[in-house]
Amino acid sequence: MPEQEPEPCLPNNLEWPAPDLPYSDTIQELHAVIEKDWDSLRRSACQTAAGRALWKHVIHDPLAEVLAGETYLNSLYEKIKKDTSNNAKEISGVILAVRTLWFDNNLEAAVNSFGGAAQVVLLGAGMDARAYRLSFLKESDVYEVDFAEVLQMKNTIIQAAINSTTECQHLMVAAKSLNRVAGDIKDDNWLEKLQISGFVPQKKTVWILEGILYYLTHSQAMSVLKTIAENCTLTHTILLADFMNKQSTALSSSVFHFYSDWPDQLLPSLGFSDVKLSQIGDPDANYGLLPDPLNLFNKLRSLPRNLQTHPDDGTPCRRLYLVQGSGSPSQVIP
Ligand SMILES: C[S@@+](CC[C@H](N)C(=O)[O-])C[C@H]1O[C@@H](n2cnc3c(N)ncnc32)[C@H](O)[C@@H]1O
Repeated sequence: MPEQEPEPCLPNNLEWPAPDLPYSDTIQELHAVIEKDWDSLRRSACQTAAGRALWKHVIHDPLAEVLAGETYLNSLYEKIKKDTSNNAKEISGVILAVRTLWFDNNLEAAVNSFGGAAQVVLLGAGMDARAYRLSFLKESDVYEVDFAEVLQMKNTIIQAAINSTTECQHLMVAAKSLNRVAGDIKDDNWLEKLQISGFVPQKKTVWILEGILYYLTHSQAMSVLKTIAENCTLTHTILLADFMNKQSTALSSSVFHFYSDWPDQLLPSLGFSDVKLSQIGDPDANYGLLPDPLNLFNKLRSLPRNLQTHPDDGTPCRRLYLVQGSGSPSQVIP
């Protein structure tokens, strides 16, 4: 059957929505602290928020602009303007937009498959605002795990935005509960910290590992995945995660470490018997945001996954896999 492509969903090139900068002095001061004191790992939280803010014609995230900060918004907006004026086949930030929509859609399907109520754990939550923006979480308990300073700053910025911007003044948590859990997932005790906050490993849970695994080393990432697989009831677990392949981590070898060229083999080896893998551009992972048939992602996904360089031009095959894993109903519940 031919693939059904959704209608293109890009704004007119000349009308790409500019960032709103509804910043009070307080919010500007808070972002000045982020720029001065945070390392690039922590600041990556603001970068991804900037992506959501600038793709607001497809992602409704009323907090993304205030959480991203002016510097990241302006820098991504300049790249987008350049791409649109050059008629680029892929517009900057498109990976982030597709990734966000893929996680949103699969999170909704996962929560529905659990009867509308679940625990939702975001590891490396950063400036993610799903607990505020997704009404289907109304019966679910959300747990955000990140470094203490990231979560504290996020909370302070959100409160300042509610107090100072008309867009955010009526903003409320849409989830049943929102629990911020300060912790370092490289440490052994992060699951214990989650449990102290009310998380129960045996209950139905959706795990969101979005933009996090590749910041860890191989052994750290494997330890996080094993902790989930070994402590949670897998038939009550749906894991949603993105994985870089080896060539993608080479983009910045000082920042990115863990990769897997075969996450659909790795997760079953840990006990996730049902695994589904998508690549950016696949029918369930493009949302009409990649209308040019010759875009980079379409070129990549037509190539065998074991190829590390493109046979035509020798360019590296950089891939991002979007993966869902769960236990199958036939697995015995311990
Ligand atoms: C690229 S951001 C992604 C944030 C969010 N998941 C999103 O998609 O917008 C990576 C986040 O992971 C957090 N992080 C990185 N290493 C971590 C660790 N060892 N423990 C807890 N959080 C970590 C960073 O602080 C940052 O907020």
